[in-house]
Amino acid sequence: MLNVPGGRRALRPARADGLIGYVTELRSAQWYAGDHRNAYLHRAWMRRGLPDSAFSGRPHIAIANTASDLTPCNAHMNEVAASVRDGIYEAGGIPLNLPVVSLGETNLRPTAMLWRNMAAMATEEMLRANPLDGVVLLGGCDKTIPSLLMAAASVDLPAVVVPGGPMLSGTFRGVPLGCGTDVWRLSEEVRAGTLPESAFLASESSMIRSRGHCNTMGTASTMGLLAEALGTTVPGTAGLPAPDSRLLEASHAAGRLVVEMVGQDRRPSQVLTAGSFRNAIVALAAIGGSTNAVVHLLAIAGRLGVPLTIDDFDRIGAGIPLLVDLQPAGRHLMEDFHRAGGLLAVLREVADLLDPGARIVTGRPLVDYLAEAQIWDHEVIRARGEPLQPEAGIAVLRGSLAPSGAIIKPAAASAELLTHRGPAVVFDTIEDLHARIDDPGLDVDADSVLVLRGCGPKGYPGMPEVSNVPLPRKLLERGVRDMVRVCDGRMSGTAYGTVVLHVTPEAAAGGPLALVQTGDFVTLDVPARRLDLDVPESELRRRTPNRATAAGFANPHRGWERLYVDHVQQADTGADLDFLVGSSGGNVSRDSH
Ligand code: FES
Repeated sequence: MLNVPGGRRALRPARADGLIGYVTELRSAQWYAGDHRNAYLHRAWMRRGLPDSAFSGRPHIAIANTASDLTPCNAHMNEVAASVRDGIYEAGGIPLNLPVVSLGETNLRPTAMLWRNMAAMATEEMLRANPLDGVVLLGGCDKTIPSLLMAAASVDLPAVVVPGGPMLSGTFRGVPLGCGTDVWRLSEEVRAGTLPESAFLASESSMIRSRGHCNTMGTASTMGLLAEALGTTVPGTAGLPAPDSRLLEASHAAGRLVVEMVGQDRRPSQVLTAGSFRNAIVALAAIGGSTNAVVHLLAIAGRLGVPLTIDDFDRIGAGIPLLVDLQPAGRHLMEDFHRAGGLLAVLREVADLLDPGARIVTGRPLVDYLAEAQIWDHEVIRARGEPLQPEAGIAVLRGSLAPSGAIIKPAAASAELLTHRGPAVVFDTIEDLHARIDDPGLDVDADSVLVLRGCGPKGYPGMPEVSNVPLPRKLLERGVRDMVRVCDGRMSGTAYGTVVLHVTPEAAAGGPLALVQTGDFVTLDVPARRLDLDVPESELRRRTPNRATAAGFANPHRGWERLYVDHVQQADTGADLDFLVGSSGGNVSRDSH
């Protein structure tokens, strides 16, 4: 080892053949380089079988691992991590397993979204506090990729995402059974009396056929694909089914790639640019992705100061055709999507709409990877000239009921309801909804607008996926299958219907949603991008908001929930905590040893 001024060791290429030359001093050298006592301490405790060369210029790479038995969609991540590890080691790096907060969508209460920012903050702090030069992010279930990307963006260390991939398609009674979407559909059939409960329960064990996350175009699939559209994955990786052995090949490649990225000092701030967010919004529309992507992309952009706004989703995405026939908007599942050509085949169809300069983790533009992509099954992925729907994307609404915005996914809505005026039936909380929605005496008909409030980031707290309010049983029994619904919460990416969601400001933050009364008329006009409460301003000034929705149904007195309620921002900017917006980089100037 060479001594350099300041007592630090000079860095040398990680491989004897000199293929990797580091353009900057490794960050981990701040812990390990030198002959002084502190370097001795840092090295000695980390040795445990590592060779001396581990501390003399080889990048130390964390594998941020969301494997957890309580996050079943990510339970296979230890196997993925093993392949990443091999790739890192083969390229000359030192792989280090870093278990991070893992969020299982179906288990966490009150809602996994309450913990997204906590997972992001904990991961960010552990990446910064440890002697690391880069990170591979292993995510799958809904919130895991967003929280990992938020963390990596704020620390700004070289980072590659490995999406864990969807599960294989299940079947029930000879037809495909998609997770999420078909559960909503079948449970509505039970409520409508058209499916016996015993058949519904029998479908349960047919749905989850393998490892992996939900196999519809829900939030997990969407965020895995958008991680690739953003440029943060090895190209062609997203959407690989979890049990597919090619996922392990891709994981190995990701391990190799992150070592190269450290060598070239290629960081998230160079990858996650305005151009890459444009590409993600184009992809979101063309795949018919989840509305949850709006809050996640806004939050990730906020960590890097990329000037992304809610209106960009409408401006960039609204006129883009829906090219993917997947549940919930269509018929097929993610296994079919991958077989049909995957994301790159979709992006090739809309290549002219992509930012040609947006570079991905490999250092090359995303568009460079589209030339060889092909659609192999036009039933699943449509050509641009034969779309499933001519216009997909997210529509952003404003008006007297949503001064700061609300969103709707027209592709998942009923065309005849996109312009609608009807009397509100108001529910103050989700508990209020559950108590009254099936009451035979509820004054509601198919023209009513179901308004659910108290479900925003502060009000619930955590902004749960409840906006696709179940329809009243008595209307289901009459054959009604969709109604206009308005809510300040989110909606599962696997759900569907004419649902206006993310209404901002939420009721608990003083939005006009808190003032709506049953019987008030609400006007939805998606072509005009309007959502209005047809009540005179003077009358609204006289009203007092319902206490439960004004103060929030829950008013936590301690812990993360208290911190969250005090600092969470509204949905139109990504529902991040105010003090987590932005980046602190990777520097830690103090050392207690
Ligand atoms: Fe994990 Fe759907 S529950 S992705």
